[in-house]
Amino acid sequence: MTIQILSLRKKDLDKIIEIENESFVNSWTINDYINEMTHNPFAYYLKLIDKDSQEIMGFVGFYIMFEHAEISKIAIAKKYRGYKLSKLLLTDVIKRISLANCENITLEVRVSNIVAINLYQKLGFEIINTRKKYYPDGEDAYLMNKNLREED
Ligand SMILES: CC(C)(COP(=O)(O)OP(=O)(O)OC[C@H]1O[C@@H](n2cnc3c(N)ncnc32)[C@H](O)[C@@H]1OP(=O)(O)O)[C@@H](O)C(=O)NCCC(=O)NCCS
Repeated sequence: MTIQILSLRKKDLDKIIEIENESFVNSWTINDYINEMTHNPFAYYLKLIDKDSQEIMGFVGFYIMFEHAEISKIAIAKKYRGYKLSKLLLTDVIKRISLANCENITLEVRVSNIVAINLYQKLGFEIINTRKKYYPDGEDAYLMNKNLREED
């Protein structure tokens, strides 16, 4: 299988919402994505596809705000989980963010999301704080950070 990582287009959003709905409790709608892609100058969205079938297997969203970057979303379709695809996608994103000269990357993750916490720790993110009742259902979030400058 040949993997490609490309910019997300509006025509992709039906599939993105399908993956979104099987991945998150508080899912974004198509309009949330359209708003972000149209009006947020700091936002980037990438899809991970199988080049042969053109099937979207996952996606990621991130913000580059001058010297700081933030991962806002990452999800892999259920049937493709466990094949190191998120690691591949996030490694690519970290490279892009490093090339934009950012100093660090942060993200929030549910304290119960052990799979995602493992993924982020594998890629050099550290827990730096807990945000109490961060999610609408009352769950706490870990704030995680990855410094980029110390790897120069
Ligand atoms: C989190 C998510 C993106 C991981 O995607 P994935 O492609 O299955 O993950 P990978 O196969 O690339 O694995 C990457 C690392 O995650 C961790 N991991 C993956 N599956 C795991 C499992 N079942 N149990 C524990 N850790 C696991 C491991 O550290 C793994 O690295 P390793 O294989 O070298 O040990 C995917 O589970 C997902 O889409 N979840 C729903 C959305 C979500 O929670 N997003 C994060 C929000 S903050």
